[in-house]
Amino acid sequence: MKNIWTLSLVLLLAVCCNEEKTIYKNPDAPIEKRVEDLLRRMTAEEKIWQLTQSRLGGNDNPNNVMRGDEHIPPIVGSMIYTSETAELGNAMQRIAVDSTRLGIPILFGYDAIHGFNSCFPIPLAQAASFNLELAGRANEITAQECREAGVRWNFSPMTDIARDARWGRVMEGYGEDPLLAASFCAATVKAYQGDDPSQPGRIAACLKHYVGYGASEGGRDYAATDISLQSLWDTYLPPFHSGIDAGALTVMSSFNTLNGVPTTASHYLLTEVLRERWGHEGFVVTDWAAVKQLVNQGAADNLKDACRIAFNAGAAMDMCDYVYPKHMQELIDEGAIKMKDVDEAVRRVLRVKFRLGLFEHPYADPSGSEAMSPSAKAELFEDLAQESMVLLKNDGILPLRQGCRITLAGPIADDKDAVLGNWRAHAKTDRSVSILEGMSTEFGSGVRIAKTDAEALSLARSSDVVVLCLGEPSKWSGENKSRASISLPAEQEELFFKLAATGKPIVVTVESGRPLDLSRINEKAAAILYTWCPGHMGGPAVAGLLSGRHNPSGKLPLTFVHDKGQIPLYYNHRNPSRRGDQGIYIDGVPVTPLYDFGYGLSYSKFEYSDLKLDGLTARVSVTNTSDRDGKEVVLWYITDPACSIARPAKELKHFEKRLIKAGQTEEFVFEIDKMRDLGFVDSEGRPFFESGRFILMAGDQMLEFNL
Ligand code: GLC
Repeated sequence: MKNIWTLSLVLLLAVCCNEEKTIYKNPDAPIEKRVEDLLRRMTAEEKIWQLTQSRLGGNDNPNNVMRGDEHIPPIVGSMIYTSETAELGNAMQRIAVDSTRLGIPILFGYDAIHGFNSCFPIPLAQAASFNLELAGRANEITAQECREAGVRWNFSPMTDIARDARWGRVMEGYGEDPLLAASFCAATVKAYQGDDPSQPGRIAACLKHYVGYGASEGGRDYAATDISLQSLWDTYLPPFHSGIDAGALTVMSSFNTLNGVPTTASHYLLTEVLRERWGHEGFVVTDWAAVKQLVNQGAADNLKDACRIAFNAGAAMDMCDYVYPKHMQELIDEGAIKMKDVDEAVRRVLRVKFRLGLFEHPYADPSGSEAMSPSAKAELFEDLAQESMVLLKNDGILPLRQGCRITLAGPIADDKDAVLGNWRAHAKTDRSVSILEGMSTEFGSGVRIAKTDAEALSLARSSDVVVLCLGEPSKWSGENKSRASISLPAEQEELFFKLAATGKPIVVTVESGRPLDLSRINEKAAAILYTWCPGHMGGPAVAGLLSGRHNPSGKLPLTFVHDKGQIPLYYNHRNPSRRGDQGIYIDGVPVTPLYDFGYGLSYSKFEYSDLKLDGLTARVSVTNTSDRDGKEVVLWYITDPACSIARPAKELKHFEKRLIKAGQTEEFVFEIDKMRDLGFVDSEGRPFFESGRFILMAGDQMLEFNL
């Protein structure tokens, strides 16, 4: 009897130890228990490498040419994976999982900010669509394509507020408005992560570049930024807060110093705000070599110093400069970095990996990307492209009538590369449908392409209209692509004026990653369609809009200036102390925009009426008085004309895009939330409400109320 008891006890102990032994490998165990169990098993060396990101694979992406690093131990926490197929990553993962002491999978990340293999409009264009649902569906495809290649972490959404078109990275964000940026940021996080990022087709999001990077002095990339704490809290931080509230698992610190402190070295931003105030449970990865760059920025005397400063600020993972593996152990031994802080950083990295289901599914898997047929994807991408394009001018020439004789000219007409824009990940130009191809399909033999400027002039004379396709080469925007001028290339303006001299109406399409200075061509152009970088299906989108098969519905996500000398110029500015003929440029440049935030034409006519407020429920009626169905974006603005902290002249507080059939009237409702929509925030980030007079605007309707 005694032997049976002893044997049972031994078996019971064995089972418990066995369970205890593998709790972090038990998918049914609570994630926090798995984290703690794994953490306590790790050596200091394993912990430090878990906080390190390296590279694997190679590609020729113009914005991210990379080669893998050699001799990286498979206990590295993450790798930027730049191959477009899964084989290399899976092979590396198999070593990490099967041949290391604890088998911790590597988290592969990449930049797929507007598609991975597919390519749809750049984020700035997505914002111009004001269509969160459509953009969300496209970004879900990105997540599926990433996952298929073994990439489980996308360094996206970029949600930097940008008001300076000279900055090349304005293309990557959502423009000048905090609400618009916050809305698209949250929608993109949801598109990537879903409600459970461990599910098929889901990956981790990464809010970047935290924070203030878009305010780089002179629009020069990597430059210092000076932002008042008031503007930091009322303009630059809200989109990031929205992304955190949407559950973003990671955040990337930015390249800029902010008010003298590099964000990568800012305990205030990385720990006090992100962790303590916002309760972020994931981790911060630095931008590329941002730890090392603290020396350039004058914030650290050497790399060991940089390691201490960045890590103690709250930068959990070090991107690709290997400062942490080189210097962290020494700093721990000296007590300059505390092991409890290392544990907290590793805890956050492990937590993300467990939440991603990486331990259960460490390898690439075709997670649903084939669910949508190629033709359905093409239709979706064309829809998003055409809804993002903004019709800036139309003297009535558009839509073009079938059968009219069209000369198609300009350097972008047959350019399959420019339409893809920068940061295109693995998109290939051979999948692009050019404007020429789109127009030929749309208008048939009515279209004649001019291969040279001379041919354009000659064909124009025997045409009814010229469609002139202008714009920037794709490599003129993106990282490290700032321009002191934001003009169209000189030779393009020259061609425009030569064609204008023929007297034929010119429809200009402009492809660009930034708002360009159109002031010189604006007057003589019969129509201007701003296409941004529309992706693979840009051609059919443009052709569909010019033919009227699509009805333009895009609105500007940021201001277009008359002259770069006006920069920065944005709609939600604080009012000057004088107006009218005071505070002007004496050299004649206007102080108003060429085209305003929220501006965009349609082939339909929308009339607003009956704006009313019942309690805090606002309603407005919008009638489509034309004979053409069209989508309208109703933008709801609030003005608080008197506040202890002067507020922007007007602030976007809600928007809704909806189809309104010809001749029909739709009612739009905005449920005002007192604190969210009428309150404000102070320079400590504290929300407050001050009673008084408010102005509510929608379309040309306005009403005042007191609260
Ligand atoms: C780059 C960019 C950042 C990108 C990272 C990884 O330098 O600043 O946006 O995610 O490196 O490629």
